Amino acid sequence: MKIFIDSADINEIKKYLSWGICDGVTTNPTICLKCGVTGGIEGIKKRTIEIAKLIEPRPVSAEVTSEEPKEILKQAREYAQLAENIAVKVTITDGEGNSFLPIIRKLVSEGIKVNVTAMTTFNQAALAAKAIDAGLKENPNAKIPVPNFISIFGGRISEEQGVEQAFKVLKNIRYWLDFHKFKGIEVIVGSIRTPENVELWARTGAHILTIPPEIIAKSLLGARTKETVVQFIDDAKKSMEEIEKQQ
Ligand code: E4P
Repeated sequence: MKIFIDSADINEIKKYLSWGICDGVTTNPTICLKCGVTGGIEGIKKRTIEIAKLIEPRPVSAEVTSEEPKEILKQAREYAQLAENIAVKVTITDGEGNSFLPIIRKLVSEGIKVNVTAMTTFNQAALAAKAIDAGLKENPNAKIPVPNFISIFGGRISEEQGVEQAFKVLKNIRYWLDFHKFKGIEVIVGSIRTPENVELWARTGAHILTIPPEIIAKSLLGARTKETVVQFIDDAKKSMEEIEKQQ
């Protein structure tokens, strides 16, 4: 299972690279805003290039900022030119529920890596996988496995239907992809809210968990970790003092 860092903060990404736990990065316009990225799409492109260089060959996902199909295609093609390890994030529909699957199919057929995002159901994920697969079949040069992604928002499912429903959706989609032998499509669990989400959804077979930095930091600690370390250090000091007394 891979861990992506759900952040556009360069220092946080550097930190988790140094820990050896960063297999990629995901961003979206909300995350970019939170991480101080200004200047609209140009600002996002600049930060994405920075992240792409920092983590290559690992992938970074950057999301389009428009709901207009022509503009999405334009932005996606521009993102894809910026670096080889960029996956273009496109939501499964627009804000009114109109399908972006034709755009997704087209981008994949052009050899552009996609991350279909903002999904909360098995059906959405299955449709997204079908569109990606159709795009791959139209592209004779597609290198399999191509890292295309489908992002299921575990936290948002949980807020409506509980963590177990998110678990079910994630487990079922992984099973379905494997059963039908889809290639070049990986499941990302997004919108992780707690360390308990990490533990539960890591057991779904999802290929990737994308985790916000603050949840990684919390996941490092157990209820008694700090107290245990303090005890060991105190006792090590006591034992050294004993030795010194005897000399
Ligand atoms: C990751 O790729 C997603 O964009 C992210 O986890 C979204 O989660 P949210 O529910 O916090 O917006």
